[in-house]
Amino acid sequence: MVTGGAGGIGRAIATAFAKAGDDVVVADIDGVHDAAGALGVRGVTMDITDDTSIAKALDEVGPVDVLVNNAGLLSVHGRLLELPAPDMLAILRTNVHGTFLMTQQVARRMVAGGRRGVIVNLSSIGGRQPTPGMGGYESSKAAVDALTRWAAVELAEHGIRVNAVAPGPVLTPMLAAGMPEGSPARAAWVSRIPLRQMASVEDVAAVVMFLASAGAAHITGTSVPVDGGQLLT
Ligand SMILES: NC(=O)c1ccc[n+]([C@@H]2O[C@H](COP(=O)([O-])OP(=O)(O)OC[C@H]3O[C@@H](n4cnc5c(N)ncnc54)[C@H](O)[C@@H]3O)[C@@H](O)[C@H]2O)c1
Repeated sequence: MVTGGAGGIGRAIATAFAKAGDDVVVADIDGVHDAAGALGVRGVTMDITDDTSIAKALDEVGPVDVLVNNAGLLSVHGRLLELPAPDMLAILRTNVHGTFLMTQQVARRMVAGGRRGVIVNLSSIGGRQPTPGMGGYESSKAAVDALTRWAAVELAEHGIRVNAVAPGPVLTPMLAAGMPEGSPARAAWVSRIPLRQMASVEDVAAVVMFLASAGAAHITGTSVPVDGGQLLT
């Protein structure tokens, strides 16, 4: 199950799992029909901030072996002195509380069913390195890293691994449209990245796939940067 699976990165993650032959469910608050139809996978409409909506979706979908907590709000920006308080709450409600609710409900079902499983969260390198105007979002992703460690340490005894990926800026269709090749905005981001390019959605999906795979059997509680070395600068 890929939450936010109709969006830029989520769709690439769902595509990668589908190509590997997995039974994929695209879960999103919006655009499920189109995304699931285009990928030829299952889809379910749900709101990760609403416990009842999550329960209904999980009842419909059946057992989940791999949960990718990818749904998130990115579009809210503002400097500390200006960000409206309700905007801050909206970010935390989706990115932190929503990720918590999904993790709790899916993990409860895994434990009750005696099934091992894997959870991969979408964090951000911004959770560890500040950019002016993005602190609300970045705070939420630092909390996602803490949530990842919390879940990992408590769910290990049930054979459930929990990790995160922490991308730098990713060239989703939305971002690519907002900062085209050669634009000052694109150049400003790229100048911070030692590998001198932004991540592709496939770069992120590949690491999610690895963390969900048997190759990562001894990895839990970590948040893997996919940032072209941005943290080194
Ligand atoms: N794009 C980037 O540069 C970047 C960088 C680092 C991390 N991330 C993280 O990757 C994830 C995906 O980002 P994206 O760029 O693909 O964004 P996106 O906006 O394209 O996709 C996000 C998806 O989440 C869904 N969603 C939002 N609120 C929801 C809710 N309450 N319930 C269910 N679904 C909901 C949206 O409908 C959308 O389809 C996010 O968690 C984001 O914070 C993105």
